[in-house]
Amino acid sequence: MTTTHRVRIQGSDTPLEVAADQSVLDAVLRAGEWLPHSCTQGTCGTCKLRVLDGEVAHNDSPDYTLTPAERCAGLVLGCMATPCSDLVVEPLGAAVDDGAPRHPLRDHDGTVVVLDDIATDTRRLVVELDEPMSFNAGQYAELVIPGTGVGRQYSMANPPSESKLLEFHVKRTVGGRATEGWIFGSLAVGERIELRGPLGQFHLVREQAEPAILIGGGTGLAPLKSIARHVLDHGLVPELYLYHGGRRRDDLYDVEFFRELEAGYDTFHYRPVLSEEQWDGATGMVTDVVVEDFRSCKGLSAYLCGPPAMIEAGVRALKRRRMAPRLIFREEFTVAAPVATTAAS
Ligand code: FES
Repeated sequence: MTTTHRVRIQGSDTPLEVAADQSVLDAVLRAGEWLPHSCTQGTCGTCKLRVLDGEVAHNDSPDYTLTPAERCAGLVLGCMATPCSDLVVEPLGAAVDDGAPRHPLRDHDGTVVVLDDIATDTRRLVVELDEPMSFNAGQYAELVIPGTGVGRQYSMANPPSESKLLEFHVKRTVGGRATEGWIFGSLAVGERIELRGPLGQFHLVREQAEPAILIGGGTGLAPLKSIARHVLDHGLVPELYLYHGGRRRDDLYDVEFFRELEAGYDTFHYRPVLSEEQWDGATGMVTDVVVEDFRSCKGLSAYLCGPPAMIEAGVRALKRRRMAPRLIFREEFTVAAPVATTAAS
């Protein structure tokens, strides 16, 4: 029989049953409750909790995310810590209520219906789920590598209205267990697949009075495609600008899709950018092209997804153009997965 413990979040009257081998965050999200989180793999620190009562196992919590001093002070990573007793915990940062719907975390099964090469070392994977999955535009799911139980994180590129047909953009990683070992290897159309989601707090779901800028590098386009389609479908912003950066022409994808979207919406502006090849479009670093286009970003918001260097350059550039840090939202990639989703500090 599975051992469980009762875990209560400070301020809530209702304790949750958490299995001894289940992370606190996993239990909270499956119960439809909310705790701040992003990477769910111990690398971003967004999910830090203070243990007010009880004992936990830290498991593989890395020291660079949770320092020994923080452990001594009773802090834990909610996505890594499992309960050794009944617990009372409180989130370290205030749980921001941004008005976004909270969708419970669930396990899902589905069938691969599309697996196409769309750009250099990049595949589009479309999974038809047996049951729909509710999510916010910009969130991600964890695809489970068969026979391992190990998950890899990919953002949904489809809008939430298509809740049974999930689209993912996957970049090959040299030696990658999920990519070369599976999605670019043995995986084929018609195969069954397991995933869990939704996860993450990178999203744009509320109506806002000011324009928004979306900046993506490589497959960082995926959550921005979901956001763009959702925002345009619901008229959530007065103007929406999408910048997609790649090195060479073969790195770009969905160009025709976005050009057609642009032709259909006066409020949508799409600008693909190449950094290493001259062509008839914009050239240079994608973040440099953004600041050339906007003399002031005061009052605007931005959503960035891509490699850390692009994100850092983008945040610096947007701040120089007077965008408020609290209106800059970002999702960074590591080799294996997207990590931190935060407003810029
Ligand atoms: S460290 Fe737990 S969500 Fe990132």
